Amino acid sequence: MRKKRNRAIDSLVQTAVQAQKRAYCPYSRYPVGAAVLTDRGRIFAGCNVENASYGLSICAERAAICRSVAGGNDVIRAVCVVGAAARPCGACRQVMYEFSDKDTELYLVDLDPATGRRRIERTTVFKMLPMAFDPLASGLLPANPRTSSRR
Ligand code: THU
Repeated sequence: MRKKRNRAIDSLVQTAVQAQKRAYCPYSRYPVGAAVLTDRGRIFAGCNVENASYGLSICAERAAICRSVAGGNDVIRAVCVVGAAARPCGACRQVMYEFSDKDTELYLVDLDPATGRRRIERTTVFKMLPMAFDPLASGLLPANPRTSSRR
């Protein structure tokens, strides 16, 4: 069981590393890759996609979340973000929180493609967003969103 899980996390990290290479970031020159592991074991990748109208740029984490939702997945088991000193921005923390539970892991991979330096930190989505605006606590969603009419 643990082996299977480790294998899933390995592919999650590899997927995010590959996604970083596809980042479209001609303005910031700061490539970010992300990947999401769903509760059904599927992995979805995302990268940052910038725009000449800078404010329209989308972060890698949100790109990956959007793909997992479009793929029919609600709950995420783990997220991986790859970048030089990668840290999800505040907006991405809230968007990841929406699809996470208290155990959803967050792997932060500090990878600078220029030097190849790589360091991994593990935390959780909930820890990265203390006192979050919570869809359940606020009463905006029923207690179990997985069985709600949202689907
Ligand atoms: N970026 C991400 O993709 N994820 C983050 O968590 C932080 C920032 C992107 C947005 C922009 O394309 C570039 O990094 C510089 O801010």
